[in-house]
Amino acid sequence: MEGKRIGILTSGGDCPGLNAVIRAVLKAATRKGWDVYGIPYSTDGFIDIAEGKIDPESLKLKEHGLDLPGPLKGLDILQFLSGTILGSLSKESHKNYVEQLREGYRKLGLDALVAVGGDGSLRIIYELGTEGLEAKDHWNLIAIPKTIDNDVPFTERAIGFGTAVEIVTQALYDLTFTAAAHDRIMVVQVMGRQAGHLALHAGIAGGSDIILIPELVPYLSQSVVEGCCHQIAQLRDRGRKFALVVVAEGVKNADNRWDKEIGEHLAQQIKERARDLCASGVETFCDLDRVDTRATVLGHLQRSHTPFAWDRTLAALFGTKAVQLIEEGQKQRLLVWQAGQVQSEPLPDVIDLIKIRHAEKKCASPVDPSNPMVEAAQSLGIYLGI
Ligand code: F6P
Repeated sequence: MEGKRIGILTSGGDCPGLNAVIRAVLKAATRKGWDVYGIPYSTDGFIDIAEGKIDPESLKLKEHGLDLPGPLKGLDILQFLSGTILGSLSKESHKNYVEQLREGYRKLGLDALVAVGGDGSLRIIYELGTEGLEAKDHWNLIAIPKTIDNDVPFTERAIGFGTAVEIVTQALYDLTFTAAAHDRIMVVQVMGRQAGHLALHAGIAGGSDIILIPELVPYLSQSVVEGCCHQIAQLRDRGRKFALVVVAEGVKNADNRWDKEIGEHLAQQIKERARDLCASGVETFCDLDRVDTRATVLGHLQRSHTPFAWDRTLAALFGTKAVQLIEEGQKQRLLVWQAGQVQSEPLPDVIDLIKIRHAEKKCASPVDPSNPMVEAAQSLGIYLGI
């Protein structure tokens, strides 16, 4: 069988499971006698190759096995590690270097490139590898979706999302007891950019009383904040003195603006609204006015845990399928998880949709308000601001 040369890069914000994908591609390709080249720092690596700063042969990846003592000798830890051994890039630094980038790609002489990225980075790589190029010069791309935001179109799951859900769920559990000890309202700010998948999934799993996501609550209007006060007051009437509130970072503040501290802002808004309502003679909210609120920003902790089982499994499925597609001569495909199976979609269609959504300044794959998770949350009595 003809030995192929394939490249792999990781792009955009890191997330748990990237190394597991690299490992899966490497293992499956090595078994076929192919060579796998790891491009450092996403497409930036091509610049260094073009400029002769990196010898392409030094990028050839070897199956990992650590030189540990005793029975641990040869242990392959790649699938357990978060981050990415290749490094990643979350800025659009390529624009001024298109020719160098393309020159670096050509120098490597790849049969195909596996690009592990989110909506933004996959779009950049696709455009770089196709726009203005003759069809014969197009990069042969196989894309693998990754992001804790879970907002790559056509796939129900992206690498990293499952682990991030677990991390946020665990954080909610941990915060429950300190909240309860002081009868506090604990507001937890969750990542996700303009998407609310992470907040919604983890909020339900973590037993939240309120979950606010941008798809349902674009900004903290007076009625939404008042709804939060009602929900908390009702809980207190029933004897539950603490409350857990999840807010996705994509929800805008009371002035309809992005706010890096939206959790803190929401906590203050709840207090202020409760105070106003109490002052206007609504007795229920006077109790609430005296309650402490605290905000926690989970931040990058959501991205860096060792990948949990689902992300390792998905990495194995996506990584091995990528190698299979390359062997079949397929190109410009995005691997997706749909209805319990790994499938692939035409990458140009995916990129077209991403471009439309980006032009509208919208999330590439938002939570659908008719998603059963929304209905389930409501049936559980969780306040969603609608
Ligand atoms: O897209 C992934 C993500 O973690 C978002 O949820 C978050 O808003 C953003 O990246 C943070 O980016 P940075 O690591 O550049 O601060």
